[in-house]
Amino acid sequence: MSLIHALMSSAHNYFSSERRKRIRKFQAFHFRQLQHVIFRALFGSDLKALAVIYGSDKWGSHWYAQHYERHCSCLRKQRLNILEIGIGGYDDPEAGGESLRMWRAYFPNSRIFGIDICDKRAHDEHRIKTFCGSQTDEKFLSEVVREIGDIHLIIDDGSHLNEHVLGTFRFLFPKLSKDGIYIVEDTQTSYWQGVGGSSSDLDRSDTTIGFFKKLVDGLNYAEFDKSHYAPTYYDKNITAIHFYHNMVFIQKGFNSEGSNLLSRGEWNTPW
Ligand SMILES: C[S@@+](CC[C@H](N)C(=O)[O-])C[C@H]1O[C@@H](n2cnc3c(N)ncnc32)[C@H](O)[C@@H]1O
Repeated sequence: MSLIHALMSSAHNYFSSERRKRIRKFQAFHFRQLQHVIFRALFGSDLKALAVIYGSDKWGSHWYAQHYERHCSCLRKQRLNILEIGIGGYDDPEAGGESLRMWRAYFPNSRIFGIDICDKRAHDEHRIKTFCGSQTDEKFLSEVVREIGDIHLIIDDGSHLNEHVLGTFRFLFPKLSKDGIYIVEDTQTSYWQGVGGSSSDLDRSDTTIGFFKKLVDGLNYAEFDKSHYAPTYYDKNITAIHFYHNMVFIQKGFNSEGSNLLSRGEWNTPW
């Protein structure tokens, strides 16, 4: 029997099984912290690499990391509160959390919050906090928002049911900070009948893509040739909408530029 084997076997006999479990957890935690420091130092600004390292499907299975980099690289060093709906691993409390750890590495000064319908407290760590509840439960969402304070990025990677996605957006978008970004992933469910979508009627406003498509005109509400048009909350508070394959980015901000032509009465200028 080797010396190491002998030492391990006497340690095994010395500690109770509960104690051994705690030691393993302690080791795993510190190993993860060390790993995190190394990965951040080597790949901190490369979200695609971080997705692969942390096992998130945002690169490789989906191709989302490139779009996040485009919209978020300039925010990377800021102190943000980031909320992701859907932690992963479904009903296994120990599984999931890959994207939370990826975000923590990519945004070194931010706090990362996750919501899941299953208890994911096993993933709580420095700068990561999870909440257990449904994205459809407005009371729960209000408590989460109250606890977090200002939220700068919201990522919906939860149930992906059209009704849930839109209900959550209607509730959380007004609570997003004034220049925050709201992101919806896996918008392909817009086309799937079983989850409330449709591939035949693409203009329905109760599918995720159908709803966001209709908000596009609101970006230009100041150009509507209607004297008494009353802009909606979305008209006034969205400054950009970016559509990609299976995901949408909605940029919040005051859409208050007005129309330079209509306001000067030059709308019929020939050009
Ligand atoms: C696709 S996984 C999330 C993956 C994770 N964001 C990542 O990128 O690694 C979806 C998660 O949403 C959770 N979920 C499903 N329905 C939900 C709901 N109504 N509210 C909150 N979370 C929900 C599931 O339990 C599952 O863990």
